[in-house]
Amino acid sequence: MEKYEEQASAMPRIGEPAPEFKAVTTQGDINFPSDYKGSWVILFSHPADFTPVCTSEFMTFATMEEQFNRANCKLVGLSVDGLYSHIAWLRTIKEKIEYKGMKDVEVKFPLIEDITMNVAKKYGMMMPGESDTKAVRAVFVIDPEGIIRTVLYYPLSLGRNFDELYRIVIALQAADEFKIATPADWQPGDEVIVPTAGSCGVAKERMESNEEDLKCYDWFFCTRKLDKEKVLNKIIKK
Ligand code: BEZ
Repeated sequence: MEKYEEQASAMPRIGEPAPEFKAVTTQGDINFPSDYKGSWVILFSHPADFTPVCTSEFMTFATMEEQFNRANCKLVGLSVDGLYSHIAWLRTIKEKIEYKGMKDVEVKFPLIEDITMNVAKKYGMMMPGESDTKAVRAVFVIDPEGIIRTVLYYPLSLGRNFDELYRIVIALQAADEFKIATPADWQPGDEVIVPTAGSCGVAKERMESNEEDLKCYDWFFCTRKLDKEKVLNKIIKK
């Protein structure tokens, strides 16, 4: 087998059950995804401990952890480093690094040790074209039933936008709760897309309707208002 095929192997896709694994983490052993049933979870990988982009990412994510938790979303990190490296790196972050106003940052979410690359390979996190020895920056957003709902991959040099990850979690939950879709750059409070009506007759009717808050740009593209409070009251724990 070619080197690339051997290492890259599986690549979980949107709509599929999250591949199962047991792992050792900085917060004890986990059984994934069953330990997270009933919660949204972001499983993400970083290339290596004690590296600058990853450090900036961990400080940002840890600072936002409570915000994600209030949206019923837990965080789980992974790299192909060992447990003692993880522990030493997270201690260094807490004790020594002050960055962009963040200091004394404690990473409370589990960080998986994956020296065997067992999990990284299951989740298609090894991309030998980018690195033979480090996982890329992968993100899997998994719903409370253990189904993969969003997949993102970033190269080693590119730090992620954590506000965008939060927006994804809220938008997916809003889509489920209100049976809508979200347009480009959607934020809570913006208009949402209502599903396309099944028949031309219904579409025409809808376009001509005086239904309050409904706006049709054409037969296939209708939006309606959805109050920010209505979205947030449904999704965010007080
Ligand atoms: C970083 O996090 O800074 C990094 C990690 C691996 C390769 C390049 C950069």
